[in-house]
Amino acid sequence: MRTTLTDLRKMHAARQPIVVLTSYDASFARVSQAAGVDVLLVGDSLGMVIQGHDSPNPVTLADMAYHVAAVRRGADRAFLLADMPFGTSQVTPEETFRNAVPLIQAGAQMIKLEGGSEMAATVSFLVSRGIPVCAHIGMTPQSHHQFGGFRVQGRAPEAAQRLTEAAQALVQAGAAMLLMECMPEPLARAIAGQVDVPTIGIGASSACSGQVLVLQDVIGLGPVPLPRLAKRYDHVAGGIGQMISAYVQDVRSGIFPDLQHCY
Ligand code: KIV
Repeated sequence: MRTTLTDLRKMHAARQPIVVLTSYDASFARVSQAAGVDVLLVGDSLGMVIQGHDSPNPVTLADMAYHVAAVRRGADRAFLLADMPFGTSQVTPEETFRNAVPLIQAGAQMIKLEGGSEMAATVSFLVSRGIPVCAHIGMTPQSHHQFGGFRVQGRAPEAAQRLTEAAQALVQAGAAMLLMECMPEPLARAIAGQVDVPTIGIGASSACSGQVLVLQDVIGLGPVPLPRLAKRYDHVAGGIGQMISAYVQDVRSGIFPDLQHCY
């Protein structure tokens, strides 16, 4: 049975941690679902970890729809959350709705959009038209130029106040989930305690209803060094490199293909 928003709400109410992991293709989606991940996030981080850009902003709506469809084919049970890429939600609520449609049609069950109180009208419009929304606040990577880099947000009292108000406004507008990224722990903890929807943290707080990480950071296939908010559980890049160099040697030395691999 496919995980639904109702299931996530029940997990939140029962204080059962929600495990979220990014996913961009069918193979890893299959493995992640089998490993017990509750929510697969097709994040626009794919601009960096898959496409090799230095920010998520070059990712297009067509890119997102392509990866959402691939993840859905690989994992039929996990809840599927998809990012609205840069420029597709910083428009009118009506245009945002139109932009969200291909992601829902590709298999997403909820869309995630970045921003503060200014996004409340858009959230309300989407929700009233049947599209569940996860609001992403704090260090919203699409605004990294505005922030002067990928920096912790909400340290100054006024900034903390703005984020607190944004969380309340977005939830009031109908956001069914709140993702907090790279914020001071006490602030994220306070917000998680104030809103009545599941909260997902990354560099936020263990008080959130769940946590999200980027797959490539978890398995050691991402950039070195890692940002502080990430945790690496292995370094598969080393093992993968060894396997590929064994293949290179086999071909160069004529060991592969042997008769066993020929018809
Ligand atoms: O794009 C992404 O992967 C994200 C997570 C890191 C929260 O937004």
